[in-house]
Amino acid sequence: MTATTNPNKALWEKGDFTEIAATMRESGEALVSKLGITEGLKVLDLGCGDGTTAVPAAQLGADVLGVDIASNLVSAGNERAKELGLTNLRFEEGDATDLSLLDDESFDLVISIFGAMFAPNPFGVAKEMVRVTKPGCRIVLGNWIPNDPTLVAQILKISSSHTPPPPEGFISPMTWGVEDDVIERFTAAGVPKERISFARDTYTFNYPGSPSELVAVFRSYYGPTMNAFEAAAANGGVDNLQAELETLFNEQNRGNGTTSIPATFLRVTVQR
Ligand SMILES: C[S@@+](CC[C@H](N)C(=O)[O-])C[C@H]1O[C@@H](n2cnc3c(N)ncnc32)[C@H](O)[C@@H]1O
Repeated sequence: MTATTNPNKALWEKGDFTEIAATMRESGEALVSKLGITEGLKVLDLGCGDGTTAVPAAQLGADVLGVDIASNLVSAGNERAKELGLTNLRFEEGDATDLSLLDDESFDLVISIFGAMFAPNPFGVAKEMVRVTKPGCRIVLGNWIPNDPTLVAQILKISSSHTPPPPEGFISPMTWGVEDDVIERFTAAGVPKERISFARDTYTFNYPGSPSELVAVFRSYYGPTMNAFEAAAANGGVDNLQAELETLFNEQNRGNGTTSIPATFLRVTVQR
């Protein structure tokens, strides 16, 4: 029997997202500090990576489960929890499109920062997030915004311009950055529109080297950029892709001697 590959899982197990996550720790901590986390709160971090938000949530005393589709990131997260002595934090492999491993109404807070947006079947994902959240409790999402001029939306835009078109029926993850789409998905999952709110927020990517060195990190370790370079290699576009990314990173850098690049995202809060 031939093993089937889940392209969503393969994308994130490619490379090593922990190298990118290392540049996002301060913003993860700042975001979590605004969520009113208290001792013993039951938190699900969906698409948690190696714990950029799960770790600070656990450090504030929450009882945190991180779920991610990429087994390498789940292992890295559990390693971090162990090193930090966080016995109230564990990571498990799972798919946001099917959280059947989790009971109904079992979390006080569900967070997904640039995580669930990358899963296929957005209506199914919204339904699963609502199902596992206790009534009266919150879901908080961080989603990149299509056509936003800042870093990540532009990396994804440049990358897709070097990649063959996706298969028919593919729904872009960036649609999670469109308020009307988010409302449609959560109202279909039974949440009244008035309980869905939006804010613009910022994540800053901090890296000790130059912007061009950070491009190299993305090229070597970030699945979507790695795929773009592979596709560009097939049509002779590698030098253009490299140049476009270097221009972007250098223009957006606010650091002096190091790299510090802010990126705007849509913060979604859903009151179950
Ligand atoms: C851009 S990373 C963000 C990781 C983490 N939330 C952070 O802020 O560092 C996207 C994450 O979503 C995960 N992911 C993608 N599709 C998923 C799915 N269907 N179910 C669960 N996790 C998924 C990836 O494996 C990856 O860890």
